[in-house]
Amino acid sequence: MDSYHITGGNTLEGEYRLKGAKNAVLPILAATIISGRTSRIKNCPQLSDIRTMVSILQEMGCKVSWDGSEIVVDSSPVNSFCIPQNLMKKIRSSVFLMGATLARCGQVILSDPGGCAIGKRPIDIHLTALRLLGVDIKKKDGLLECSATRLKGAVIPLSFPSVGATENVMMAAVMAEGETRILNPAKEPEIIDLQNYLVSCGAHITGAGSDEIRIVGKLPLHETEYKPIPDRIEGGTVLSAVAATRGKVLLREAVPDHMDSVLRYLTESGCIVQRDERSVYLEAPDVLQSVSPIETKPYPGFPTDMQSQFMALMCLARGTTRITESIFENRFKHVAELNKMGANITVEGRTAIIKGVDRLHGQRVAAADLRGGAALVIAGLAAEGETIVENIHHIDRGYERLEDCLKGLGAQIERI
Ligand code: UD1
Repeated sequence: MDSYHITGGNTLEGEYRLKGAKNAVLPILAATIISGRTSRIKNCPQLSDIRTMVSILQEMGCKVSWDGSEIVVDSSPVNSFCIPQNLMKKIRSSVFLMGATLARCGQVILSDPGGCAIGKRPIDIHLTALRLLGVDIKKKDGLLECSATRLKGAVIPLSFPSVGATENVMMAAVMAEGETRILNPAKEPEIIDLQNYLVSCGAHITGAGSDEIRIVGKLPLHETEYKPIPDRIEGGTVLSAVAATRGKVLLREAVPDHMDSVLRYLTESGCIVQRDERSVYLEAPDVLQSVSPIETKPYPGFPTDMQSQFMALMCLARGTTRITESIFENRFKHVAELNKMGANITVEGRTAIIKGVDRLHGQRVAAADLRGGAALVIAGLAAEGETIVENIHHIDRGYERLEDCLKGLGAQIERI
Protein backbone atom coordinates (compact mmCIF):
# COMPACT_ATOMS: atom_id res chain seq x y z
CA MET A 1 0.00 0.00 0.00
CA ASP A 2 1.22 3.51 -0.79
CA SER A 3 2.65 5.80 1.86
CA TYR A 4 3.95 9.36 1.98
CA HIS A 5 7.55 10.05 2.89
CA ILE A 6 7.81 13.64 4.04
CA THR A 7 10.94 15.55 4.97
CA GLY A 8 9.63 18.30 7.20
CA GLY A 9 10.81 21.81 7.71
CA ASN A 10 10.32 23.42 4.30
CA THR A 11 8.30 26.63 4.34
CA LEU A 12 5.37 26.35 1.92
CA GLU A 13 4.95 29.33 -0.38
CA GLY A 14 3.26 30.13 -3.67
CA GLU A 15 -0.11 29.99 -5.43
CA TYR A 16 -2.65 27.20 -5.22
CA ARG A 17 -5.71 26.69 -7.41
CA LEU A 18 -8.62 24.85 -5.79
CA LYS A 19 -10.42 22.06 -7.62
CA GLY A 20 -14.11 21.23 -7.53
CA ALA A 21 -15.53 20.14 -4.18
CA LYS A 22 -15.69 16.38 -3.63
CA ASN A 23 -18.75 16.84 -1.43
CA ALA A 24 -20.53 18.81 -4.16
CA VAL A 25 -19.48 16.67 -7.12
CA LEU A 26 -20.54 13.35 -5.55
CA PRO A 27 -24.22 14.18 -4.89
CA ILE A 28 -24.42 15.94 -8.25
CA LEU A 29 -23.10 12.82 -10.01
CA ALA A 30 -25.73 10.75 -8.19
CA ALA A 31 -28.37 13.27 -9.26
CA THR A 32 -27.45 12.90 -12.94
CA ILE A 33 -29.51 9.68 -12.89
CA ILE A 34 -32.74 11.63 -12.36
CA SER A 35 -33.07 13.48 -15.65
CA GLY A 36 -32.50 10.59 -18.07
CA ARG A 37 -30.54 13.12 -20.16
CA THR A 38 -26.92 14.13 -20.54
CA SER A 39 -25.18 16.12 -17.79
CA ARG A 40 -21.77 17.61 -18.45
CA ILE A 41 -20.10 18.17 -15.06
CA LYS A 42 -16.98 20.33 -15.09
CA ASN A 43 -14.25 20.89 -12.52
CA CYS A 44 -14.29 17.31 -11.18
CA PRO A 45 -11.24 16.26 -9.19
CA GLN A 46 -9.61 12.86 -9.86
CA LEU A 47 -10.46 11.14 -6.60
CA SER A 48 -10.98 7.49 -5.76
CA ASP A 49 -14.45 8.27 -4.30
CA ILE A 50 -15.45 9.88 -7.60
CA ARG A 51 -14.08 6.92 -9.57
CA THR A 52 -16.26 4.64 -7.43
CA MET A 53 -19.34 6.79 -8.05
CA VAL A 54 -18.64 6.69 -11.79
CA SER A 55 -18.38 2.87 -11.64
CA ILE A 56 -21.73 2.67 -9.84
CA LEU A 57 -23.38 4.87 -12.48
CA GLN A 58 -21.91 2.67 -15.22
CA GLU A 59 -23.13 -0.52 -13.53
CA MET A 60 -26.61 0.99 -13.40
CA GLY A 61 -26.49 1.47 -17.16
CA CYS A 62 -25.33 5.09 -17.56
CA LYS A 63 -22.88 5.97 -20.33
CA VAL A 64 -20.07 7.91 -18.66
CA SER A 65 -17.01 9.53 -20.16
CA TRP A 66 -14.34 11.23 -18.07
CA ASP A 67 -11.96 13.54 -19.89
CA GLY A 68 -9.60 15.58 -17.70
CA SER A 69 -11.78 17.37 -15.19
CA GLU A 70 -15.04 16.91 -17.12
CA ILE A 71 -17.39 14.00 -16.51
CA VAL A 72 -20.24 13.49 -18.98
CA VAL A 73 -23.08 11.25 -17.84
CA ASP A 74 -25.81 10.12 -20.21
CA SER A 75 -28.37 8.55 -17.90
CA SER A 76 -30.94 7.69 -20.59
CA PRO A 77 -29.93 3.98 -20.71
CA VAL A 78 -30.33 3.36 -16.94
CA ASN A 79 -31.51 -0.25 -16.63
CA SER A 80 -31.07 -1.11 -12.97
CA PHE A 81 -32.35 0.14 -9.64
CA CYS A 82 -29.93 -2.06 -7.64
CA ILE A 83 -26.87 -0.29 -6.30
CA PRO A 84 -23.96 -2.77 -6.54
CA GLN A 85 -23.18 -3.86 -2.98
CA ASN A 86 -19.39 -4.08 -3.33
CA LEU A 87 -19.21 -0.48 -4.60
CA MET A 88 -21.85 0.82 -2.19
CA LYS A 89 -19.61 -0.31 0.71
CA LYS A 90 -16.70 1.71 -0.65
CA ILE A 91 -18.14 5.20 -0.40
CA ARG A 92 -20.49 6.98 1.94
CA SER A 93 -21.85 9.12 -0.90
CA SER A 94 -23.45 6.05 -2.46
CA VAL A 95 -26.31 6.82 -0.08
CA PHE A 96 -27.34 9.70 -2.37
CA LEU A 97 -28.29 7.15 -4.98
CA MET A 98 -31.27 6.31 -2.80
CA GLY A 99 -33.12 9.56 -3.48
CA ALA A 100 -31.86 9.84 -7.05
CA THR A 101 -32.80 6.28 -8.08
CA LEU A 102 -36.22 6.55 -6.39
CA ALA A 103 -36.85 9.70 -8.43
CA ARG A 104 -35.83 7.98 -11.64
CA CYS A 105 -37.10 4.40 -11.18
CA GLY A 106 -39.63 4.58 -8.33
CA GLN A 107 -37.60 1.92 -6.52
CA VAL A 108 -34.10 1.18 -5.28
CA ILE A 109 -32.31 -1.70 -3.57
CA LEU A 110 -29.19 -0.88 -1.63
CA SER A 111 -27.02 -1.96 1.29
CA ASP A 112 -25.49 0.13 4.06
CA PRO A 113 -23.17 2.80 2.66
CA GLY A 114 -19.43 2.72 3.43
CA GLY A 115 -17.05 5.65 3.91
CA CYS A 116 -14.69 6.75 6.67
CA ALA A 117 -15.03 4.96 10.02
CA ILE A 118 -15.60 8.14 12.00
CA GLY A 119 -18.77 7.18 13.82
CA LYS A 120 -21.98 5.21 13.57
CA ARG A 121 -23.39 7.30 10.71
CA PRO A 122 -26.99 6.04 10.80
CA ILE A 123 -29.44 6.88 8.01
CA ASP A 124 -32.65 6.95 10.05
CA ILE A 125 -33.30 10.63 9.20
CA HIS A 126 -33.04 9.81 5.47
CA LEU A 127 -35.50 6.93 5.85
CA THR A 128 -38.03 8.85 7.95
CA ALA A 129 -37.99 11.67 5.41
CA LEU A 130 -38.37 9.39 2.39
CA ARG A 131 -41.30 7.60 4.05
CA LEU A 132 -43.05 10.98 4.29
CA LEU A 133 -42.69 11.23 0.50
CA GLY A 134 -44.59 7.93 0.18
CA VAL A 135 -41.65 5.54 0.00
CA ASP A 136 -42.18 2.04 1.39
CA ILE A 137 -38.94 0.74 2.96
CA LYS A 138 -38.26 -2.87 3.92
CA LYS A 139 -35.08 -4.37 5.38
CA LYS A 140 -34.38 -7.85 4.01
CA ASP A 141 -31.17 -9.92 4.20
CA GLY A 142 -29.09 -6.85 5.06
CA LEU A 143 -30.52 -4.91 2.12
CA LEU A 144 -32.89 -1.96 2.03
CA GLU A 145 -35.68 -2.34 -0.49
CA CYS A 146 -37.36 0.98 -1.16
CA SER A 147 -40.28 1.53 -3.51
CA ALA A 148 -42.93 4.12 -4.20
CA THR A 149 -45.81 3.58 -6.57
CA ARG A 150 -46.26 7.32 -6.39
CA LEU A 151 -43.86 9.83 -4.83
CA LYS A 152 -45.98 12.55 -3.27
CA GLY A 153 -44.80 15.99 -2.13
CA ALA A 154 -44.92 16.54 1.64
CA VAL A 155 -43.80 18.75 4.48
CA ILE A 156 -40.61 17.16 5.81
CA PRO A 157 -39.20 18.39 9.12
CA LEU A 158 -35.68 17.07 9.72
CA SER A 159 -34.81 16.30 13.36
CA PHE A 160 -31.18 17.32 12.57
CA PRO A 161 -29.94 19.31 9.55
CA SER A 162 -28.29 16.24 8.03
CA VAL A 163 -26.44 17.03 4.82
CA GLY A 164 -27.05 13.61 3.28
CA ALA A 165 -30.73 13.46 4.26
CA THR A 166 -31.39 16.95 2.88
CA GLU A 167 -29.76 15.96 -0.43
CA ASN A 168 -31.66 12.68 -0.65
CA VAL A 169 -35.00 14.38 -0.08
CA MET A 170 -34.23 17.13 -2.59
CA MET A 171 -33.46 14.51 -5.24
CA ALA A 172 -36.49 12.32 -4.57
CA ALA A 173 -38.81 15.35 -4.35
CA VAL A 174 -37.82 16.47 -7.85
CA MET A 175 -40.01 13.64 -9.15
CA ALA A 176 -42.74 13.80 -6.48
CA GLU A 177 -46.19 15.09 -7.31
CA GLY A 178 -46.84 18.59 -5.96
CA GLU A 179 -44.78 20.59 -3.52
CA THR A 180 -42.26 19.39 -0.93
CA ARG A 181 -41.08 21.61 1.89
CA ILE A 182 -37.96 20.58 3.81
CA LEU A 183 -37.89 22.23 7.22
CA ASN A 184 -34.63 22.52 9.20
CA PRO A 185 -32.54 21.47 6.18
CA ALA A 186 -28.74 21.47 6.10
CA LYS A 187 -27.39 24.82 4.81
CA GLU A 188 -23.98 23.74 3.56
CA PRO A 189 -22.77 25.38 0.30
CA GLU A 190 -22.92 21.89 -1.26
CA ILE A 191 -26.72 21.92 -0.71
CA ILE A 192 -27.00 25.17 -2.66
CA ASP A 193 -24.82 23.63 -5.35
CA LEU A 194 -27.10 20.61 -5.67
CA GLN A 195 -30.08 22.98 -5.96
CA ASN A 196 -28.28 24.94 -8.66
CA TYR A 197 -27.44 21.77 -10.61
CA LEU A 198 -31.02 20.47 -10.43
CA VAL A 199 -32.38 23.90 -11.41
CA SER A 200 -30.00 23.88 -14.39
CA CYS A 201 -31.75 20.65 -15.45
CA GLY A 202 -35.16 22.35 -15.27
CA ALA A 203 -36.22 21.49 -11.69
CA HIS A 204 -38.01 24.07 -9.55
CA ILE A 205 -36.22 24.36 -6.20
CA THR A 206 -35.80 27.41 -3.99
CA GLY A 207 -34.51 28.14 -0.52
CA ALA A 208 -31.30 26.08 -0.30
CA GLY A 209 -29.06 27.77 2.27
CA SER A 210 -32.09 29.04 4.24
CA ASP A 211 -34.39 27.49 6.88
CA GLU A 212 -36.74 25.97 4.32
CA ILE A 213 -36.25 24.39 0.91
CA ARG A 214 -39.23 24.18 -1.47
CA ILE A 215 -39.36 21.81 -4.40
CA VAL A 216 -42.10 21.62 -7.01
CA GLY A 217 -41.89 18.15 -8.47
CA LYS A 218 -42.48 16.40 -11.78
CA LEU A 219 -41.26 19.12 -14.12
CA PRO A 220 -39.68 17.92 -17.38
CA LEU A 221 -35.88 17.86 -17.10
CA HIS A 222 -33.35 18.49 -19.84
CA GLU A 223 -29.66 18.17 -20.51
CA THR A 224 -27.26 20.50 -18.78
CA GLU A 225 -23.70 21.66 -18.28
CA TYR A 226 -22.68 22.49 -14.73
CA LYS A 227 -19.56 23.57 -12.81
CA PRO A 228 -19.62 22.65 -9.10
CA ILE A 229 -18.20 24.94 -6.42
CA PRO A 230 -14.54 24.89 -5.35
CA ASP A 231 -13.52 22.67 -2.45
CA ARG A 232 -13.63 24.68 0.78
CA ILE A 233 -12.13 21.75 2.72
CA GLU A 234 -9.20 21.36 0.31
CA GLY A 235 -8.76 25.13 0.77
CA GLY A 236 -8.76 24.92 4.56
CA THR A 237 -6.32 21.99 4.44
CA VAL A 238 -3.83 23.87 2.25
CA LEU A 239 -4.08 27.01 4.40
CA SER A 240 -3.44 24.93 7.53
CA ALA A 241 -0.41 23.25 5.92
CA VAL A 242 1.01 26.62 4.88
CA ALA A 243 0.37 28.13 8.31
CA ALA A 244 1.99 25.14 10.04
CA THR A 245 5.19 25.71 8.05
CA ARG A 246 5.09 29.50 8.64
CA GLY A 247 4.58 30.11 4.94
CA LYS A 248 2.39 32.25 2.70
CA VAL A 249 0.01 31.36 -0.09
CA LEU A 250 -2.48 32.81 -2.53
CA LEU A 251 -5.43 30.46 -2.83
CA ARG A 252 -7.13 30.91 -6.18
CA GLU A 253 -10.56 29.77 -7.44
CA ALA A 254 -11.83 29.95 -3.86
CA VAL A 255 -15.13 31.16 -2.42
CA PRO A 256 -13.87 32.78 0.81
CA ASP A 257 -17.38 33.10 2.26
CA HIS A 258 -17.65 29.30 2.31
CA MET A 259 -14.52 29.17 4.45
CA ASP A 260 -15.53 31.90 6.85
CA SER A 261 -15.32 30.05 10.19
CA VAL A 262 -11.93 28.50 9.34
CA LEU A 263 -10.56 31.84 8.13
CA ARG A 264 -11.65 33.51 11.37
CA TYR A 265 -9.74 30.96 13.48
CA LEU A 266 -6.69 31.26 11.23
CA THR A 267 -6.80 35.02 11.80
CA GLU A 268 -7.11 34.45 15.54
CA SER A 269 -4.02 32.22 15.42
CA GLY A 270 -2.04 35.22 14.18
CA CYS A 271 -2.13 34.65 10.42
CA ILE A 272 -2.71 37.58 8.08
CA VAL A 273 -5.75 36.60 6.03
CA GLN A 274 -6.94 38.74 3.13
CA ARG A 275 -9.97 37.79 1.10
CA ASP A 276 -10.95 38.80 -2.37
CA GLU A 277 -14.08 37.71 -4.21
CA ARG A 278 -12.36 34.60 -5.62
CA SER A 279 -9.16 34.26 -3.62
CA VAL A 280 -7.65 34.13 -0.15
CA TYR A 281 -4.15 35.29 0.77
CA LEU A 282 -2.62 33.89 3.95
CA GLU A 283 0.67 34.78 5.59
CA ALA A 284 1.61 32.95 8.76
CA PRO A 285 3.34 34.54 11.76
CA ASP A 286 6.63 33.23 13.16
CA VAL A 287 4.81 32.06 16.27
CA LEU A 288 1.24 30.76 16.02
CA GLN A 289 -1.15 31.46 18.88
CA SER A 290 -3.74 29.08 20.33
CA VAL A 291 -7.37 30.04 19.60
CA SER A 292 -10.62 30.22 21.57
CA PRO A 293 -12.54 26.93 21.92
CA ILE A 294 -13.72 25.38 18.67
CA GLU A 295 -16.80 23.20 18.32
CA THR A 296 -17.67 21.50 15.06
CA LYS A 297 -21.19 22.41 13.96
CA PRO A 298 -23.39 22.27 10.88
CA TYR A 299 -22.61 25.06 8.39
CA PRO A 300 -21.94 27.96 8.92
CA GLY A 301 -20.26 26.56 12.03
CA PHE A 302 -16.75 25.09 12.07
CA PRO A 303 -16.74 22.08 9.69
CA THR A 304 -16.14 18.62 11.12
CA ASP A 305 -14.15 17.99 7.92
CA MET A 306 -11.55 20.58 9.09
CA GLN A 307 -11.31 19.46 12.73
CA SER A 308 -8.26 17.20 12.40
CA GLN A 309 -6.26 19.47 10.09
CA PHE A 310 -6.78 22.46 12.38
CA MET A 311 -5.80 20.31 15.36
CA ALA A 312 -2.48 19.50 13.66
CA LEU A 313 -1.90 23.24 13.30
CA MET A 314 -2.78 23.99 16.92
CA CYS A 315 -0.21 21.38 18.07
CA LEU A 316 2.40 24.01 17.18
CA ALA A 317 0.63 27.09 18.59
CA ARG A 318 1.60 28.88 21.80
CA GLY A 319 -0.96 28.08 24.50
CA THR A 320 -3.86 25.64 24.80
CA THR A 321 -6.71 25.07 22.34
CA ARG A 322 -9.84 23.02 23.00
CA ILE A 323 -11.58 21.38 20.05
CA THR A 324 -14.94 19.67 20.55
CA GLU A 325 -16.19 17.27 17.87
CA SER A 326 -19.97 17.36 18.08
CA ILE A 327 -20.91 15.86 14.68
CA PHE A 328 -19.15 12.46 14.69
CA GLU A 329 -18.39 10.45 17.82
CA ASN A 330 -15.22 8.71 16.61
CA ARG A 331 -13.23 11.35 14.82
CA PHE A 332 -10.11 11.64 17.01
CA LYS A 333 -8.08 8.72 15.62
CA HIS A 334 -5.34 11.11 14.51
CA VAL A 335 -4.72 12.21 18.12
CA ALA A 336 -2.61 9.16 19.07
CA GLU A 337 -0.59 9.53 15.88
CA LEU A 338 0.00 13.27 16.44
CA ASN A 339 1.11 12.49 20.01
CA LYS A 340 3.64 9.98 18.62
CA MET A 341 5.11 12.94 16.73
CA GLY A 342 5.57 14.88 19.96
CA ALA A 343 2.21 16.66 20.21
CA ASN A 344 0.58 17.11 23.61
CA ILE A 345 -3.10 16.28 23.17
CA THR A 346 -5.46 14.75 25.69
CA VAL A 347 -9.03 13.76 25.00
CA GLU A 348 -11.88 14.24 27.47
CA GLY A 349 -15.08 12.84 26.03
CA ARG A 350 -15.71 14.67 22.79
CA THR A 351 -13.14 17.40 23.49
CA ALA A 352 -9.47 17.36 22.57
CA ILE A 353 -7.22 19.61 24.63
CA ILE A 354 -4.17 20.61 22.63
CA LYS A 355 -1.23 22.11 24.48
CA GLY A 356 1.06 23.69 21.93
CA VAL A 357 4.64 22.40 21.68
CA ASP A 358 7.70 24.07 20.14
CA ARG A 359 8.33 21.33 17.63
CA LEU A 360 7.07 18.00 16.29
CA HIS A 361 9.45 15.26 15.20
CA GLY A 362 9.24 12.88 12.27
CA GLN A 363 7.63 9.49 12.90
CA ARG A 364 6.05 6.53 11.16
CA VAL A 365 2.29 7.11 11.51
CA ALA A 366 -0.82 5.73 9.85
CA ALA A 367 -3.90 7.45 8.46
CA ALA A 368 -7.15 5.97 9.77
CA ASP A 369 -9.50 8.22 7.81
CA LEU A 370 -9.43 10.89 5.11
CA ARG A 371 -9.16 14.16 7.04
CA GLY A 372 -7.17 12.59 9.88
CA GLY A 373 -4.69 11.49 7.22
CA ALA A 374 -4.44 15.05 5.93
CA ALA A 375 -3.72 16.19 9.50
CA LEU A 376 -0.75 13.80 9.68
CA VAL A 377 0.61 15.18 6.42
CA ILE A 378 0.35 18.73 7.81
CA ALA A 379 2.16 17.65 10.97
CA GLY A 380 4.82 15.87 8.89
CA LEU A 381 5.45 18.98 6.78
CA ALA A 382 6.05 21.04 9.91
CA ALA A 383 8.00 18.37 11.85
CA GLU A 384 11.75 17.98 12.14
CA GLY A 385 13.07 14.99 10.22
CA GLU A 386 11.27 12.35 8.19
CA THR A 387 7.63 11.35 8.63
CA ILE A 388 6.13 8.33 6.94
CA VAL A 389 2.35 8.41 6.61
CA GLU A 390 0.95 4.96 5.86
CA ASN A 391 -2.48 4.01 4.50
CA ILE A 392 -2.73 7.03 2.23
CA HIS A 393 -5.53 5.42 0.24
CA HIS A 394 -7.72 7.21 2.81
CA ILE A 395 -6.21 10.53 1.71
CA ASP A 396 -6.68 9.69 -1.99
CA ARG A 397 -10.43 9.51 -1.36
CA GLY A 398 -10.58 13.26 -0.95
CA TYR A 399 -7.44 14.93 -2.34
CA GLU A 400 -6.20 14.67 -5.93
CA ARG A 401 -2.52 13.70 -5.70
CA LEU A 402 -1.98 15.79 -2.58
CA GLU A 403 1.78 15.28 -2.91
CA ASP A 404 1.95 17.09 -6.27
CA CYS A 405 -0.16 19.96 -4.93
CA LEU A 406 2.12 20.37 -1.92
CA LYS A 407 5.31 19.99 -3.97
CA GLY A 408 4.10 22.94 -6.03
CA LEU A 409 4.35 24.98 -2.81
CA GLY A 410 7.84 23.70 -1.99
CA ALA A 411 7.10 20.66 0.16
CA GLN A 412 9.41 17.63 0.20
CA ILE A 413 6.95 14.78 -0.06
CA GLU A 414 7.07 11.53 -2.07
CA ARG A 415 4.56 8.78 -2.67
CA ILE A 416 6.28 5.42 -2.18
C1 UD1 B 1 -21.23 15.14 7.14
C2 UD1 B 1 -21.06 16.62 7.41
C3 UD1 B 1 -20.76 17.30 6.10
C4 UD1 B 1 -19.51 16.66 5.51
C5 UD1 B 1 -19.72 15.16 5.36
C6 UD1 B 1 -18.48 14.45 4.86
C7 UD1 B 1 -22.23 17.97 9.06
C8 UD1 B 1 -23.52 18.38 9.64
N1 UD1 B 1 -22.27 17.14 8.02
O1 UD1 B 1 -22.30 14.96 6.24
O2 UD1 B 1 -20.55 18.69 6.29
O3 UD1 B 1 -19.22 17.21 4.29
O4 UD1 B 1 -20.05 14.60 6.61
O5 UD1 B 1 -17.56 14.24 5.85
O6 UD1 B 1 -21.20 18.40 9.50
N2 UD1 B 1 -27.26 11.49 11.52
C9 UD1 B 1 -28.20 10.64 12.09
N3 UD1 B 1 -29.11 10.04 11.28
C10 UD1 B 1 -29.13 10.24 9.93
C11 UD1 B 1 -28.18 11.09 9.35
C12 UD1 B 1 -27.25 11.70 10.17
O7 UD1 B 1 -28.20 10.44 13.30
O8 UD1 B 1 -29.99 9.67 9.25
C13 UD1 B 1 -26.23 12.13 12.36
C14 UD1 B 1 -24.85 11.59 12.05
O9 UD1 B 1 -24.54 10.42 12.75
C15 UD1 B 1 -23.98 12.75 12.44
C16 UD1 B 1 -24.82 13.96 12.07
O10 UD1 B 1 -26.17 13.50 12.04
O11 UD1 B 1 -23.80 12.76 13.83
C17 UD1 B 1 -24.41 14.59 10.73
O12 UD1 B 1 -24.79 13.79 9.73
P1 UD1 B 1 -24.93 14.22 8.19
O13 UD1 B 1 -24.89 15.69 8.00
O14 UD1 B 1 -26.04 13.48 7.63
O15 UD1 B 1 -23.60 13.58 7.68
P2 UD1 B 1 -23.10 13.59 6.24
O16 UD1 B 1 -24.17 13.76 5.26
O17 UD1 B 1 -22.19 12.42 6.17
